[in-house]
Amino acid sequence: MDKLISLQAVQKTYKIKGGLIHALRGVDFEVAQGEFVALVGPSGSGKSTLINMITGIDRPTKGEVYVAGQRLTHMGEDRVAGWRGKNVGVVFQFFQLLPSLTVMENVIMPMTYAGTYSGRRQERALELLDLVDLVDVADKYPSQVSGGQQQRAAIARALANDPPLIVGDEPTGNLDSVSAGLMFALFEDLVAQGKTMVMVTHDKDLAGKVPRVQEVRDGLLLDSSEVDDRLLVRA
Ligand SMILES: Nc1ncnc2c1ncn2[C@@H]1O[C@H](COP(=O)(O)OP(=O)(O)OP(=O)(O)O)[C@@H](O)[C@H]1O
Ligand SMILES: [Mg+2]
Repeated sequence: MDKLISLQAVQKTYKIKGGLIHALRGVDFEVAQGEFVALVGPSGSGKSTLINMITGIDRPTKGEVYVAGQRLTHMGEDRVAGWRGKNVGVVFQFFQLLPSLTVMENVIMPMTYAGTYSGRRQERALELLDLVDLVDVADKYPSQVSGGQQQRAAIARALANDPPLIVGDEPTGNLDSVSAGLMFALFEDLVAQGKTMVMVTHDKDLAGKVPRVQEVRDGLLLDSSEVDDRLLVRA
């Protein structure tokens, strides 16, 4: 198997006033290139923490993280950020659009960092906004559009540099079921084109359509066979 992601014995401990929180307690997780994986599990189980390890947004307290041949645990923050910008499209749980930029400018921003030819940026941003049905609000600011529109803008932004790996933390969590279905179909298309997708979701219908579902529970990744059937509605 051609591994794109390999987490080895990853632990993440947060120090808080009065003690430690063991958000991840020894996670081994491998994802092959071209796989579509859904992460499910209760609130507070460690899903976002796990996602942050894969994107290099956060570092493990112990263990190793390899993504696309890079050992993230041994790279400086700036190098990780540069690497992420080209290789990983991230859709954050709370969007994290820049409020001072329009929807269109938010989608353009990763292309600016990646050094995309300036004449191409606007054209590509419009293609992406069309894909997520946001051309109408391209010139509005995030605060002027709905939560679902912000989420779709975040999806468009994640795809800006055509990354081989797309990681979404509840990327459809703020969408109605019709838009969620459309965005899910977009993710399926991307996987069919050879991209790798890792997606946290609380949506049982969607999780039931993903070929591989892994459950995070209390800082551990359960074996695929242990996924609670009640978490899924198999298609
Ligand atoms: N920066 C932080 N500082 C301290 N504790 C944190 C931090 N980030 C996460 N935690 C704790 O780590 C645990 C896992 O949090 P995480 O955000 O990964 O859960 P989650 O599965 O994504 O939950 P949700 O479904 O609600 O998004 C929780 O107990 C949380 O309170
Ligand atoms: Mg979370």
